[in-house]
Amino acid sequence: MRETERLDKILSNFGYGTRKEVKQLVKSGVIKVNGITAKDSGMHVDPVNDVIEIGDEVLCYRKYIYLMMNKPEGVISATYDNRLRTVVDILPDEYKCFDLFPVGRLDIDTEGLLIMTNDGQLAHELLSPKKHVPKRYYVLVAGTVTDQDAAIFKEGVVLDDGYKTLPAHLDIIVSGDRSEIELVIYEGKFHQVKRMFEAVGKKVKYLRRIAMGSLELDKSLQPGECRELTEDEVNLLKSFGT
Ligand code: URA
Repeated sequence: MRETERLDKILSNFGYGTRKEVKQLVKSGVIKVNGITAKDSGMHVDPVNDVIEIGDEVLCYRKYIYLMMNKPEGVISATYDNRLRTVVDILPDEYKCFDLFPVGRLDIDTEGLLIMTNDGQLAHELLSPKKHVPKRYYVLVAGTVTDQDAAIFKEGVVLDDGYKTLPAHLDIIVSGDRSEIELVIYEGKFHQVKRMFEAVGKKVKYLRRIAMGSLELDKSLQPGECRELTEDEVNLLKSFGT
């Protein structure tokens, strides 16, 4: 159900003046609702779904935003960097006001599914090492990946620093000079996938995250594009955290 509020109340709550002042603003024609100039400061507006503009500013009313991005290579999973482009830099303008941050990290040369949100609680839960949220990757590997590698991954791989990973599931899609693999891991150590293949003497040539739990990367998103998660997808994410 749509919950509506008076336009003057919303604007006043956001510091655009008293109701009387807001009435003047509306009268002057600078307020738009869904692209149409508002005529009546008492009109009812759904602050969650309607777009309210004050001049060329969009009112950022919504509390939590959840996006799925197909992270392109060449940008870093951070909110700010004085040298490199970040995933926040490439967000569409309408999301710039929400203080979104990436949930976890993908390397600069990794593509694929990255959740961006301002819901710190959800991010915390998804990243908790205790939760073991599965992450699925498509991996292009130089060299022949074998069933023996799959068996080693299933046992847990000892990385260069001596850490033994949790059991991981490796599916060989194409085996050859360049092997195509799908790999599911249940944790998120630094450069984990690359280091797991290094541990069996192989080099990752290309890496793309294709799912987190049962949330899959939308195949229609080109690298660099993003879209909001549906309500069902947000609930799916929240269920991983519980
Ligand atoms: N493992 C890696 O090595 N890199 C990533 O970006 C993600 C997982």
